[in-house]
Amino acid sequence: MSIINDEKKDILTMAIETSCDETSVAIVKNGREVLSNVISSQINLHKKFGGVVPEVASRKHIENINLIIQQSLEEAKVSFSNLNNIGVTYGPGLVGALLVGLSSAKALAYALDIPLIGVNHIEGHICANFIEHKELKPPFITLVVSGGHTHLVHVKDYGEYEILGRTRDDAAGEAFDKVARSLGLGYPGGPIIDKLSKKGNKEAIDFPRAYLESGSYDFSFSGLKSAVLNYLNNTKQRGEKYLVEDVAASFQQSVIEVLVNKAIKACKEKNSDILAIAGGVAANEGLRRLMDKKCKENNIKFKYPSKVLCTDNAAMIGCAAYYDYLKGYRAELSLNAVPNLKLGNK
Ligand code: KG4
Ligand code: ZN
Repeated sequence: MSIINDEKKDILTMAIETSCDETSVAIVKNGREVLSNVISSQINLHKKFGGVVPEVASRKHIENINLIIQQSLEEAKVSFSNLNNIGVTYGPGLVGALLVGLSSAKALAYALDIPLIGVNHIEGHICANFIEHKELKPPFITLVVSGGHTHLVHVKDYGEYEILGRTRDDAAGEAFDKVARSLGLGYPGGPIIDKLSKKGNKEAIDFPRAYLESGSYDFSFSGLKSAVLNYLNNTKQRGEKYLVEDVAASFQQSVIEVLVNKAIKACKEKNSDILAIAGGVAANEGLRRLMDKKCKENNIKFKYPSKVLCTDNAAMIGCAAYYDYLKGYRAELSLNAVPNLKLGNK
């Protein structure tokens, strides 16, 4: 079943995303046309702490949000009165950070007397592919790999998800960030490791690949993280040196081989000829290269969003909100933040 916009008029969504360390507001037309996608990143603020400090993040969102809302309207050349609905991330994420976006969205929905749509952040990541690939329609298999989540999902229809597997411990991006930290590389670690990997030998160190029980689509990255730490400590204790580039490349290869093999297996088992990746780690060039190769070998169409739509942004939330809106989903003004919201739970 596909849902259709019966209203035959343009639907303008303002979307607000504040679940972690990006304050972002977008204006999206008919779900897939991005009129503006303003992203104010707090990365420089959190860098000195080696990760996101929740209290600092909430305070910065409060400082920024009204400015970013205004900027998104100006860039899109629309005014409040043109908006048909407001979409907002209400979970998962940091509770204090989520509440900033949620409070602003509720105030706007109330004042403008338009529907409020609560969006699941992970669902937003998946929808980034709808913006990038205008022809993309469910069903397909998607791999969501971000700083907080690693999910392998069968997208059966708009808003209909069968979760095939998820991480049992660290998310893929979290593993990148933690390994980068132990190598003294700074935050966020993913893009730095990605860049260093290009200069390293991915076969230099044989780090473990966690496939778990046969047939499982779950992931686990904490063992790999410990293996990297042990390698670094043992090498130092022996008074030997290691090449940071080789550690980065070998670690990255361990992560991406497991991600790629499980995603391809899911496509075959579900008879899907489309695989879409999403989330911050979907920006990883090593992952994109290997996934592209394996998809070609298996006659699977491989989709990924542009880098700006991989990491947190409000346009992807606007897209998810649009499909919820067409399905008739409306949130109450009492909607609360749900820090551990699961995919598929409205
Ligand atoms: O999707 P995202 O912006 O936020 C969450 O919802 O978590 O993802 C951020 C994560 C961070 O862990 C970051 O290190 C990782 O995505 N990341 C990457 C790359 N760019 C961002 N990981 C690997 N390679 C990259 N190029
Ligand atoms: Zn995210």
